[in-house]
Amino acid sequence: MQFKSMIISNVEVSPGYWRMRMTAPPELPAAQPGQFVMVRVNEAIDPLLRRPFGIFDVGIHTPAQTGAAPQPYLEMLYRVVGKATSMLSALHETDLLDILGPLGKGFNLGSPEEEKMIVGGGVGLAPLYLLAKELVKQSSVRLFVGGRTRDDILCITEFERLGVECYVATEDGSLGESGLVTEALIRRLAACDGKPRIFACGPHGMLNAVAGIAAQGGIPCQVSLEGYMACGMGACLGCVTPGHRHSGEAPDYRCVCADGPVFDATELKWEA
Ligand SMILES: Cc1cc2nc3c(=O)[nH]c(=O)nc-3n(C[C@H](O)[C@H](O)[C@H](O)COP(=O)(O)OP(=O)(O)OC[C@H]3O[C@@H](n4cnc5c(N)ncnc54)[C@H](O)[C@@H]3O)c2cc1C
Ligand code: FES
Repeated sequence: MQFKSMIISNVEVSPGYWRMRMTAPPELPAAQPGQFVMVRVNEAIDPLLRRPFGIFDVGIHTPAQTGAAPQPYLEMLYRVVGKATSMLSALHETDLLDILGPLGKGFNLGSPEEEKMIVGGGVGLAPLYLLAKELVKQSSVRLFVGGRTRDDILCITEFERLGVECYVATEDGSLGESGLVTEALIRRLAACDGKPRIFACGPHGMLNAVAGIAAQGGIPCQVSLEGYMACGMGACLGCVTPGHRHSGEAPDYRCVCADGPVFDATELKWEA
C-alpha cells in the first residue's frame, strides 16, 4: 500500500535520535510487529531512493481540536546518520511524506506460556516496542537494552509503562550495568525455570552474540536485520544476506526485505 502521510509530531528524544508520529490509513494499525515502511523523504530527485524504517508504534490519535475525528497513526524511531535521516529530522507538523508499506515479514509471537526475552541495541529498539505491546497481552516480557552510552538507551519508560521488566547496560557504564547487555540476558536465561523465547534487533555484533547464546541453549530466537535496501520488495536483490547453508561453492542467500526482515536465527549464517 502506498499512501501520503501528514506529520503530527517530530521530536528529538535523545541526541541524534528522533521519534516521528504521522497519520496513516485505517489498515495500518493491523501491521505485524517487525514489519517496516519505505519512506520517500521529499519530492526531489535526491535522495532518490526510499529509506526503510521499522514500525515503532501504531494506534489511534485524537486531535486536540474539539470535534476532530480520531485518526490512525504510525510512529517511527530513527537515528540521524546521513542525508535522508537528517532531512527527516528537519520536517515539521503538517509536512507530508510518501510511504510504502507495511512490508516484509514480522515476528512470530510464540505461545503464551513462554517467557519472552526482547534484546535491543540503540535504534534497534524501533521494531521492538510494537512487539512488546502485543507480547504483554499474553506473556511476561523482559527487555534487555544495550548501548554505548546513556544517549543510546531510548524509550525505556514506554516499555516500563507496558509492564515490561527492563535491564539496561551501557559500554561506558553511564546508565544501568557497565558492559554488554547480553551478560544480563545470560544470567536471566540461567534463572528462567520456564520456556524462554528470544527476539532481537540491533547491531550485527549483538545479533551474532544473541544467536550464539540461543543456539547454545536450544532457545527459539528471531532476529530483525537491517540492510541496504533499494526496492524493499524483493525485486533488486540489493539487500541479500547469507543463509545458514551458504558457502563459496553453494551460495544460499536470503532477501532481507521480502524473506525478512525478521528471521529465525537458525536460518542465517553467523560468525563462530
Ligand atoms: C528493515 C529495516 C528497518 C530499519 N529501521 C530503522 C529504524 O526504525 N530506525 C532507523 O533509524 N533506521 C532504520 N533502518 C536503517 C535506515 O534505513 C538507515 O539509517 C537510513 O536508510 C539511512 O539513510 P540516510 O540517507 O540518512 O543515510 P545514508 O546516506 O544512506 O548513510 C549514511 C551513513 O549511515 C550508514 N548507514 C546507512 N544505512 C545504515 C543501516 N541500515 N545500518 C547501519 N548504518 C547505516 C552508512 O554506512 C553511511 O555511513 C532500517 C533499515 C532496514 C533495512
Ligand atoms: S531491497 Fe530490493 S530486493 Fe530487497
